[in-house]
Amino acid sequence: MASENNSPIGVFDSGIGGLTVLKEIFRVLPAESTIYLGDTARVPYGIRSSETVMRYSFENTRFLVSKGIKLLVIACNTASSVSLAAIRKSVSIPVIGVIEPGAEAALKSTGNKKIGIIGTEATVRSSAYKKTIKALDKSAEIFSLPCPLFVPLVEEGWTEGEVARVVAEKYLSGIKDKGIDTLVLGCTHYPLLKNVISMVMGPDVRLIDSAVETAKKIKDILKKDSGERKLKGKPSREFYVTDSPERFIKVGERFLEQKIKYIEKIAVSC
Ligand code: DGL
Repeated sequence: MASENNSPIGVFDSGIGGLTVLKEIFRVLPAESTIYLGDTARVPYGIRSSETVMRYSFENTRFLVSKGIKLLVIACNTASSVSLAAIRKSVSIPVIGVIEPGAEAALKSTGNKKIGIIGTEATVRSSAYKKTIKALDKSAEIFSLPCPLFVPLVEEGWTEGEVARVVAEKYLSGIKDKGIDTLVLGCTHYPLLKNVISMVMGPDVRLIDSAVETAKKIKDILKKDSGERKLKGKPSREFYVTDSPERFIKVGERFLEQKIKYIEKIAVSC
């Protein structure tokens, strides 16, 4: 077992949404260096075909691996749904997606085995959550629902108030009468709508935040396999985007509740 590995953790998402996962990594693993790639030129992934999301995921992975990362986090539900297995096969470092941790947590949480999944169209179409949960417990009943408008709402910062509530009520009416006791927030942006979603679903439905579960999993893996960072001194926190660093900083700092000090615009497709 390796006792120490001071290389950074690589994290990618289609844009800013994966910062919800990064924020949890900062909280759970404050000593780790990180490199975050937001593919802001090609966001959103949630409305694209599986082939396209797969290609984008490989290009993002190639960029991060070239930076010498010790572990890769696919901090995007859509990319995890479509490309996790293929990416895992193609690299020699551990790869964590957000689906498995969320699925495991949902099963731990549910009492009546009725679980709701909300996500982008591509995530719901892939049935990745359903397959993962069913592989762990065949008797679980899964109700999936795409909520595409939640992403632009969050991007606009409309996470509370009338508009968010009306949109949430409209979407979630499609799942509210199913008797679920657990709802997986199967998209990076949705944790920011937790209050509104919780209000609409009511107190008997527990919400699963994949970002929190993923960070816990990364910690376990680093402890077990790859080694944690043991260097004294502050970890480095680098950000790369494929377009509009200014917008990323503006929205990203709100997500992270901290300053983004190092950011660079790069091209990943080659
Ligand atoms: N990051 C995406 C996800 O978690 C949401 C935004 C997008 O569609 O690219 O599915």
